[in-house]
Amino acid sequence: MPTVVIANLKSKSIHCDDKRESLLNILLTSTDWMHACGAKGRCTTCKAKILNGHHNLSERSKAEEQYLKLNKLQEDERLTCQTYLSGDVTIFAPKETQLSHLTYSD
Ligand code: FES
Repeated sequence: MPTVVIANLKSKSIHCDDKRESLLNILLTSTDWMHACGAKGRCTTCKAKILNGHHNLSERSKAEEQYLKLNKLQEDERLTCQTYLSGDVTIFAPKETQLSHLTYSD
């Protein structure tokens, strides 16, 4: 059962039963996470910085490759709506996508 830890949200841990769900859907079972385009890969507001567990993530989608080329996504960032898990991962909510009603440590 993969676990997602959000390092800068009090190390919140989310356990997921269904690996077919996107990382965004897993996050939304337990917290709020920005996703302005409705998980269509048309914005970057759902991005997360990956601290650990890169090898437990699906290949980058075409949308992610495009945003990488445009420098709107960094090498250590993924679009949570385009990413699927095969194991544990630790992520970080970037400053620019943090929600004002949640309390982040960084
Ligand atoms: S919600 Fe827009 S790219 Fe993921």
